[in-house]
Amino acid sequence: MENKFAFAQDLIKKAGQLVIEQMKDVFDVTVKTTQDDVVTSIDIAIQNFLIQSIAEHYPEDHFLAEEENCQHGISVGNVWVIDPIDGTLNFVTQKSDFAIMISYFEKGSGQFGLIYDVMEDKLYSGGGVFSVTCNDEKLPVFDGRPLSHSLVACNTGMLLKNSYGVQELLKHSLGVRNYGCAALSIARVLNNQLWAYISNVYPWDYAAANVLGQALGYELMTLDGSDIDYTNRQMVIFLPSQYKNTIQELHFRS
Ligand code: IPD
Ligand code: CA
Ligand code: CA
Repeated sequence: MENKFAFAQDLIKKAGQLVIEQMKDVFDVTVKTTQDDVVTSIDIAIQNFLIQSIAEHYPEDHFLAEEENCQHGISVGNVWVIDPIDGTLNFVTQKSDFAIMISYFEKGSGQFGLIYDVMEDKLYSGGGVFSVTCNDEKLPVFDGRPLSHSLVACNTGMLLKNSYGVQELLKHSLGVRNYGCAALSIARVLNNQLWAYISNVYPWDYAAANVLGQALGYELMTLDGSDIDYTNRQMVIFLPSQYKNTIQELHFRS
């Protein structure tokens, strides 16, 4: 497993270098469903690069990745979950605040996760038997501070629609932030900069959170109480495990 983890750390950095090279040139942007749901030729190129490189080294392994309908079941064999560029709208409009995300599962059990903030050259990695670090510096476990002394990141649509009474929860915090990138929001929770992240996200957006967060005292739960299923988009909160019950009392009365 050590080798696979080191391989993934090296690979995600190489993918980041590729993004930096390719974003200097003109690239294609295609609308997927609505004007704010886009994919670029770089998203596709990076996903292909990651999958080809992994498949060369580990031909038995499978992939659950965002682009091109690449959806292997999480609990069957060895599965790499990939979001080639998370925060594509930020990438297209700002050329910053996006990340590459990879996590690796064996028979449904998370072994390690990686979030690479390309423009800041910050690699968050670890989980399973590996320490969780940012650029090789160990991240601290959750410091126990209450919601009332903290900031929370929340998906704008959910905030506006007050999905699951989320506004009630947020009133108990110091304030709300929205970074337009699941990966970097998760990283800010892991860094103790945010208390929680609330969003409506896909498996490739949340898989790394679950794997990286566990040893540091965080957990991912759905707002409707169902299991995290790694098949669909789900409304989730990534939060300190010790506050899970308090949170359930505060809101979620849809
Ligand atoms: C999206 C971003 C966004 C979140 C969306 C995701 P993408 O991922 O993480 O912040 O609100 O739910 O789908 O499409 O940029 O990879
Ligand atoms: Ca994403
Ligand atoms: Ca993406």
